[in-house]
Amino acid sequence: MKYTQGNYRIVKKENLAKNCYDFTIACPEIAEIAQAGQFAHVKINGFSLRRPISICEVDKENGTIRIVFEIRGEGTKALADCNENTLIDIIAPLGNGFTLLDSSKKAIVIGGGIGVPPMVEVAKHYRKNATAIIGFRSANAVILNEDFDSLGANVMLCTDDGTMGQKGYVTTALATRLEQETADIIYACGPHLMLKGIIELANKYNIRCEVSLEERMGCGVGACLVCACKTVKDGKEYFAHVCKDGPVFDSKEVIL
Ligand SMILES: Cc1cc2nc3c(=O)[nH]c(=O)nc-3n(C[C@H](O)[C@H](O)[C@H](O)COP(=O)(O)OP(=O)(O)OC[C@H]3O[C@@H](n4cnc5c(N)ncnc54)[C@H](O)[C@@H]3O)c2cc1C
Ligand code: FES
Repeated sequence: MKYTQGNYRIVKKENLAKNCYDFTIACPEIAEIAQAGQFAHVKINGFSLRRPISICEVDKENGTIRIVFEIRGEGTKALADCNENTLIDIIAPLGNGFTLLDSSKKAIVIGGGIGVPPMVEVAKHYRKNATAIIGFRSANAVILNEDFDSLGANVMLCTDDGTMGQKGYVTTALATRLEQETADIIYACGPHLMLKGIIELANKYNIRCEVSLEERMGCGVGACLVCACKTVKDGKEYFAHVCKDGPVFDSKEVIL
């Protein structure tokens, strides 16, 4: 696993929705090797533990990455207070990313809430061959739908309360999509319950599926055991490290 640690400049800051921020960070050596589904471990002033945030988009030409995060606690609140030109200490790219098939294959990318950001870089690979199913609680929480649109992906936007897009969960939209046409692969990131429903549908239709798990993390590089999660391989259960063995797993290997 090759990664870099350094202080990198925030070159663009945007407020996407209430308590949700989008940073573009200049870090050419990270952008050069970062893959869809990997994450950045961010050091925030005043906090000893780093915070894991998915890489939302990589721009190799301009040497930047994008991270999109929601304020959840004190750490992400302090991160949101950083402004353009601030240097932030990042270790990245960490973890194993999604397996990308040939871009002519049909892919479905599914994100729930703050699980949506890592799906942008995946959809960028498949563009018009991607269906992006993204779900949020309500219209005021919707983020990144225009990014998927501009990549040429077919966007199915869902909100729990029906205030934007179709009313209901992403799993309902996925069932509808799969009744119409099959797909070569499904990628998903979001709450465990959502992932469970997606894995059931992927199994029903016999479609390869990869999920990204978000567990609490300490070191981010496999040294502390904080991120252990139960997985199964060749019929045997074992504990994997989400930071090092994941965050992306084959859906057949995860126990949720
Ligand atoms: C691989 C991965 C990718 C992630 N990608 C994103 C993303 O793109 N955007 C985003 O908004 N959030 C993402 N998260 C969740 C994000 O890491 C937490 O929201 C954040 O760490 C909360 O920190 P805090 O200080 O605000 O909260 P606090 O609750 O005060 O955090 C205390 C400690 O718990 C850890 N922690 C708390 N919640 C989580 C969580 N859900 N997952 C992992 N660690 C947690 C923190 O890192 C910190 O060490 C990701 C998590 C993982 C593991
Ligand atoms: S976070 Fe330390 S082992 Fe994964």
